[in-house]
Order: sequence, then C-alpha cells, then structure tokens
Amino acid sequence: MNNDLIIPNHIGIIMDGNGRWAQEKGMIRTMGHKKAIETLRELLIHMADVGVKYCSLYAFSTENFKRDVSEVEFLMNLFIVAFQKEIEFLKSMKVRVVFSGRKNPLPEKVLEVMDKIVEDTKNNDKLVLNICLNYGSHAEIVDTTKKICEMYKSGKISLDDVNEELFESNLYNNLPPLDFVIRTSGELRLSNFMMWQASYAEFYFPKTYFPDFDSKEFDKAILEFNKRNRRFGGVK
Ligand code: IPE
Ligand code: IPE
Ligand code: MG
Repeated sequence: MNNDLIIPNHIGIIMDGNGRWAQEKGMIRTMGHKKAIETLRELLIHMADVGVKYCSLYAFSTENFKRDVSEVEFLMNLFIVAFQKEIEFLKSMKVRVVFSGRKNPLPEKVLEVMDKIVEDTKNNDKLVLNICLNYGSHAEIVDTTKKICEMYKSGKISLDDVNEELFESNLYNNLPPLDFVIRTSGELRLSNFMMWQASYAEFYFPKTYFPDFDSKEFDKAILEFNKRNRRFGGVK
C-alpha cells in the first residue's frame, strides 16, 4: 500500500453478510460464519501490518439473540473454539484483545474463554482488538449511565463532574473515537454499533459480503477513507 496514505487510528467493522454469502453458494448460513473467521485472520495480519492501532469488530449484537436457537448456539460454539484456537496467533501478532458488551446471558463457557484471552493478551501493544459480543450501543449507554449514577450516589462525583469526558471514560472500554466504520454486505445502517464512538467517523458500505472482504478490499476502503474531508464541525 502507498506509504503516503493516512491509516485510520480506530476502525470499526460491522461484519455483515455471512449468511447470504453461504446461502448464495448453496450452503447453510452458519458456513458463512465459519469462513468469516478465516477472513478475519487475514485482515488482522494486514491491519497490524499497515499500522491500524485499534479495531472494533461487531461479532454479535444484543439483538442477535432473536435468531434461531441453532444459529445462536452455533455462533457461541464458534466463539469458544475460535478464541481458544487463535490465542497463540494473537499473542504472536502482539494483539491485545478486549471485549465490549453485556455478560448476561452469554454462556459460562464463552465468558471463561473471553476472560482467558483478555488475560493472556493484556500486555500486547501492537493493535487493540475490541470484540463487540452481545453488544449494543443502547445497552452501553444505559450501563454507563448506571455506573455514573452509582458514582454520584456514593459521593465519588458531584453533578457538575458529569460531562462528555467522564461519560466516555466510563464506557465499556476506554478507546479513542472511531475514525472509520466499514459495514460489509451493502446494508446502510449501524444496527446499534458504537453510536457514541462513531459520532465523527467516516462510513463506508461496500457491497462485498464479509467472508469475501479480504486485504485487497480493505485497501480499497483505505483509499476511499483518504478521499474524505473530515471537518469535525470546523471549516477546512
Ligand atoms: C453477520 O452476518 C454476522 C452476525 C450477525 C453474527 P449475518 O449472519 O447477519 O449475515 P446476513 O446479513 O444474514 O447475510
Ligand atoms: C449487525 O448485523 C450485527 C453484526 C454484524 C454482529 P445484523 O445482520 O444483525 O443487522 P441487521 O439485523 O441486518 O440490522
Ligand atoms: Mg446481517
């Protein structure tokens, strides 16, 4: 990739289209989720290589529990297997994994492997991978509000201390704002993904289904990002 390109510091990826990818190939939907893991591996290597510092991945939304039990179970098992299997790969890549989302009602085994991967990668500093699992922006904003109310109730803060900085530092993870949000598969919506963090992000909606979103597609996205004129409310 051209060295003069600006690489977004924090990229969000809404990994959509796994089901359609599989169905269009005459396979069951879940095969798309499986293929998505391979795609992610390639993307991670590439992102670390080009210098992305933070990547937030939408893996499972709070609303995804509405899906068939069999698909939800498949995904939970896939998380268990993938988190166990990829731990050495992530360590070798110096990736630090954090999670965003509610623990309840995730299965105990999933929570266990999540804790392990966080613990085992906590000293890595090449790239922070924020995996949004059982995540919803609405839930995050409510949970953060509750946390701040508790701080107020216990006398740790006064009403005047409540401001954007305090709110931001009490979200699930203390991450920089999103610079670039990519949603694959052609859908033009956020579906409850990181609404606070995406307030000034640039958006990109390729038609490609996530399992086919390889490093070449990623490079196209970066080119598009470089065409944008970010103003943050000012004049440029
Ligand atoms: C995204 O792919 C993965 C998850 C939501 C877990 P989908 O499963 O939503 O695939 P489509 O959008 O139905 O094709
Ligand atoms: C968003 O995709 C969630 C993830 C990619 C994990 P969905 O496929 O669940 O979103 P909708 O239902 O099309 O809005
Ligand atoms: Mg979808």
